[in-house]
Amino acid sequence: MSDQRYHLIGVMGWPVMHSRSPMMHNYWFEQTGLPGRYVFLPLEPERLPEALRALPALNFAGANLTIPHKLQAMDIVDEVDEVARKIGAISCVVVRDDGSLWGANNDWRGFLGNLKGSVPGWQAGEGPATVLGAGGGSRAVCHALISEGAPEIRLVNRTGERADQLAADLGGPITVLPWEVRDDALDGATTVVNTTSLGMVGQPELDIGLEALGREAVVADIIYTPLETDLLARAKARGNRAVGGLGMLLHQGPPAWNLWFGLSPTVTPELRAMMEASIWGGG
Ligand code: ATR
Repeated sequence: MSDQRYHLIGVMGWPVMHSRSPMMHNYWFEQTGLPGRYVFLPLEPERLPEALRALPALNFAGANLTIPHKLQAMDIVDEVDEVARKIGAISCVVVRDDGSLWGANNDWRGFLGNLKGSVPGWQAGEGPATVLGAGGGSRAVCHALISEGAPEIRLVNRTGERADQLAADLGGPITVLPWEVRDDALDGATTVVNTTSLGMVGQPELDIGLEALGREAVVADIIYTPLETDLLARAKARGNRAVGGLGMLLHQGPPAWNLWFGLSPTVTPELRAMMEASIWGGG
């Protein structure tokens, strides 16, 4: 193997050592036989510009970005994908042949890939969606729902201005509702997504009554620690289909591989089991 053909990718974050991305991508390096490695790149925010600029010289094909770099990177890369600009965050950087940097966002693709893979036949167009939260995760989810033709998105957030800004940036059929009406906002919804941090390990539970929600609705959470949040457990118990957040991480991998290498690796049951085991073990 020539040195040029060794493919390097990394995840830049601070903190980053908890990230499951290296496990996932290195599984695919093994599966596909592509020579390469995916590494942790712990990086304080002030080092981001020089670190991104160094990627071509270090022979990296690209990188993933996680907290707190997703916003700042937009001002550093040479070109930002139109959707990433709309969502307001870059999750994936591609080093192009001429050494320039291109920023994309695959989180929304991950959300859709996970939902479609977990609930065959799911269609956004079937009815209103209710989205809880208006942070970065919500922006990716709302873009995904709009692109799939959701007729209405009820966006419920504690801080109204943040939801208003999201609606203005993304366009589409978004109605902003106050946090206090979250129970009623489920009435008639066919898709419900929690994008708040409520229900995550170490955070308070999401306090929402599911009584108004129809049994046909699909309930998704973008949280994956725990693998099944209290919201999902309650939804399942009353007969709703429930989709956890780990799949969103898994399914943003193949689009990234497509951008870096023109390949489409598979989210296998074995990979999912490996990732789940690492979360159960807390490792
Ligand atoms: P991310 O970018 O990962 O989506 P974020 O930007 O920190 O994370 O967003 C977290 C979301 O959880 C926000 O919608 C936040 O509401 P605010 O916009 O009002 O801050 C929501 N959230 C966090 N704690 C909350 C709480 N105790 N009650 C209601 N919403 C909460």
